Amino acid sequence: MRIALIGCGHIGTVHAYSLSQLHRAELVNASLHTLFDHDVARAEKIARHHGGTVCDTLERALDDADVAWITTWTDGHLRAVRAAVERQLPVFCEKPLAPTYAGCVEVASLLHAVPHQVGLVLRWSPVFEAIADAVASGRYGAPQAAILRDDQYFPIQGMYGSTWRGDVERAGGGTLIEHSIHDIDVLRWVLGDPARISGHTTERFGHAGIEDIATVTMTYDNGAQASLVSVWHQILSRGSGRRLEVFCEEAYLHTADDYLGPLTIETSESSVEVLGSMPSWADQLAVPEVYEKAVAHYASANKAFLDGLEAVGGPQMGRPAVDDALAAHRIVDLAYRSAAAGGAPMEW
Ligand SMILES: NC(=O)c1ccc[n+]([C@@H]2O[C@H](COP(=O)([O-])OP(=O)(O)OC[C@H]3O[C@@H](n4cnc5c(N)ncnc54)[C@H](O)[C@@H]3O)[C@@H](O)[C@H]2O)c1
Repeated sequence: MRIALIGCGHIGTVHAYSLSQLHRAELVNASLHTLFDHDVARAEKIARHHGGTVCDTLERALDDADVAWITTWTDGHLRAVRAAVERQLPVFCEKPLAPTYAGCVEVASLLHAVPHQVGLVLRWSPVFEAIADAVASGRYGAPQAAILRDDQYFPIQGMYGSTWRGDVERAGGGTLIEHSIHDIDVLRWVLGDPARISGHTTERFGHAGIEDIATVTMTYDNGAQASLVSVWHQILSRGSGRRLEVFCEEAYLHTADDYLGPLTIETSESSVEVLGSMPSWADQLAVPEVYEKAVAHYASANKAFLDGLEAVGGPQMGRPAVDDALAAHRIVDLAYRSAAAGGAPMEW
């Protein structure tokens, strides 16, 4: 399969790296073929390191491809998705789907027409999968409460080096939509759809409409409660960090790492640590140790999508598909509405 990569910045490079590694190790039957970015130098850099031919328009890049990876900044997703779907190409679309909820609905209605996957890659984290499975199994009783803390330095600097994250028209908002859409998706994966949502947001760093602190509280029909605290700070030495704690009636599950864990499960009888495993094929990638986990994480999502396109019996939908992404966006939208109304609860 010939892959078109649309958007050749930070995450486009991460995808290009993981896709070229998968191809090199003959783990997928697909390779980077065409590249497009408004900033030609960025596309050229990816071509030099990971392959592919730089195209001068979006349309040319898509015309000569079998599958599209859409990794532009958020307000570029709609146009690129539309152009790919018009060509009936399967689409891997990065999160957030669009800056506004109406835009997300539009992207979702386009994606329904083709095999697709959304870049909510925490669905490919063994540690969150273990938590979601443990809660769904019911073996620890009903879930009571979840607390998710997510922090990251304000990502217009450092390895992100982007200015669009300070522009509400392009990003749609700050830490809640841009970063914690992942967290909302994880909480929904573990606990299901909430019944009520309240939010509070604060802008500390002077970018209008770009909140750098967001808290979201969700309550569920079964009485469970969840809270998310999402912070963009200025501690440049800190990597992005997540800490998730889930209380079930008969167990306390917690992790401070968002990929392999370990996950600690404490019950009346014992406290057990479970460490997630890298994919069995990860040792076939030729990646410096420092990048091993990050590349394996994105490669898992990318490989699964490509494998699904070649599945016996016809292409399968990726994980997560757009309906899960749209549900997470609906929660984010309701949290923003609640914040604008002083924290008033919004019904799901
Ligand atoms: N899944 C994840 O973990 C993850 C991580 C980081 C970023 N993202 C998402 O990926 C997207 C890109 O983020 P980034 O960090 O790579 O940003 P970035 O600024 O590093 O790169 C974006 C690139 O897209 C290009 N671009 C913008 N609009 C375009 C258009 N219409 N057509 C072609 N190229 C266009 C820009 O020139 C830039 O090179 C955002 O939506 C972001 O939220 C997802």
